[in-house]
Amino acid sequence: MFPMIRIEGVRHAYKTPSGPLPVLDGLEMSLDEGGFSAVVGPSGCGKSTLTRLISGLMKPDEGKVMLHGEVVTGPRATVGMAFQNPVLLEWRSILQNVILPLEIVPNTLSKAECEDRARYLLHLVGLEGFEDKRPSELSGGMRQRASLCRALVHKPEVLILDEPFGALDAFTREDLWQTMHKVKENEPFTGVLITHDLREAIFLADQVVVLSGRPARTQYLLDVPDTGPRDLEHLYTPEAAEMLAILRHQIEIAQGRAPAEGEAA
Ligand SMILES: Nc1ncnc2c1ncn2[C@@H]1O[C@H](COP(=O)(O)OP(=O)(O)OP(=O)(O)O)[C@@H](O)[C@H]1O
Ligand SMILES: [Mg+2]
Repeated sequence: MFPMIRIEGVRHAYKTPSGPLPVLDGLEMSLDEGGFSAVVGPSGCGKSTLTRLISGLMKPDEGKVMLHGEVVTGPRATVGMAFQNPVLLEWRSILQNVILPLEIVPNTLSKAECEDRARYLLHLVGLEGFEDKRPSELSGGMRQRASLCRALVHKPEVLILDEPFGALDAFTREDLWQTMHKVKENEPFTGVLITHDLREAIFLADQVVVLSGRPARTQYLLDVPDTGPRDLEHLYTPEAAEMLAILRHQIEIAQGRAPAEGEAA
């Protein structure tokens, strides 16, 4: 059985007027079907670049990005994406915004089935009753919920979330974490979440990948034990505190603020 996502020895440099800018250098990552991986690392280390490689928007200079054992050579409809800024179309209702990918990605659904699917997802994330509103009539958290529905509407195999909750206040963010768990229980996808929030990483993911500073390599992998349904209380347990301390230390190493193991202080 192939892992859903496999990243092998990936190196990439952007061409810039002042010469190549190496961004990724020796990235390794493997994620089984249905898994959820959080990727953390210093700002500018190459996390969004990684999402572009997985989604096939870019090809790496070296190494392989594989989905189900097949090398990714271009954008795929089987990948859904949501970003920090939800970018919903103001001239379409929330329902019409969520349906949009079904108008683009080839599928066999009738118009009514597309609507049903979008309504079901909006209900799942707590947006029933807002189907006919325009994006500007919704709060930031609600827009992010709608954006999540839009990313999922065509049943992607892989869902990539690039700091989707980064711009939200702490309480709204925690609400959305819980919504994410509900969505995960009801929708089968393999998730990659880019985040700067270590609590978010251990609350949502079953694996946390720490990237080094640029050019990024896989510096550290943390498996988050499956302890059954997660609630916010779990973040205050000694086990969670220990995981957060490990990750914080790894981020300090990635930022060059703490020596790596084996290095002189
Ligand atoms: N198209 C591009 N051309 C040239 N350089 C780029 C391009 N896109 C990104 N970069 C540079 O590559 C590096 C990695 O960018 P990337 O957006 O992947 O980082 P990131 O880890 O997502 O950062 P952040 O945490 O701030 O979102 C940065 O130094 C950025 O300036
Ligand atoms: Mg980024």
